[in-house]
Amino acid sequence: MRCDVGPMLHLDNGFDLRPAGAEDAARIAFWMAQPHIRRWWHQDWSVERWAEELSEQSAGEHSTPCVVSVDSVEVGYVELYRVRHDRLADYYACDDHDWGVHVAIGDVTRVGRGLGRQLLSALADALLASDPDCRRVVAEPDIDNTPSVRAFAAAGFVRQGELQLPEKTALLMVRTRTVEA
Ligand SMILES: CC(C)(COP(=O)(O)OP(=O)(O)OC[C@H]1O[C@@H](n2cnc3c(N)ncnc32)[C@H](O)[C@@H]1OP(=O)(O)O)[C@@H](O)C(=O)NCCC(=O)NCCS
Repeated sequence: MRCDVGPMLHLDNGFDLRPAGAEDAARIAFWMAQPHIRRWWHQDWSVERWAEELSEQSAGEHSTPCVVSVDSVEVGYVELYRVRHDRLADYYACDDHDWGVHVAIGDVTRVGRGLGRQLLSALADALLASDPDCRRVVAEPDIDNTPSVRAFAAAGFVRQGELQLPEKTALLMVRTRTVEA
């Protein structure tokens, strides 16, 4: 069963999202090998392993892998996941309809310029709009990943405390329908 993201989301601010498949493995493996991503994702895998990963995710119900573009240029990789199918469900009292997001902007020359916060804001808006029963979009950046924490915060995600995950101390960051200033 596919993750129930439904028809591909409509994003504002010039962003587009399309499902990623095995044919995107070379591009995604290249992005994942970039030091600014490798450091936090730890998924610097071969093209073959990424092809398998993308096929498995696409066939499963946990997570939908996507390529994101802005103004028609493909700039990064996003995973949209249902928290109830994720290990994160063991770490906070999630609702059935909570969405989680993982994000990586592939081109290092495009990070740190506000693109991430715009993308995260557009993604959260689109997920909340597409699922009327969804109250929260969440993320679990490493507490030391300052660019990520700042970008999520600027996109209206609020810190809800620390989570001790097996490989990292994370911040649970939550975006609700009402963005707190
Ligand atoms: C996380 C990510 C998507 C954010 O996108 P982005 O375009 O860099 O985000 P923004 O430019 O909107 O915001 C980045 C913020 O971090 C700050 N920042 C960037 N590098 C920094 C550094 N080395 N130390 C401290 N702050 C830093 C920027 O100044 C900005 O904050 P501010 O404008 O509030 O001062 C992007 O950096 C990325 O893909 N990183 C690699 C993968 C990753 O870490 N993914 C997240 C896993 S949860």
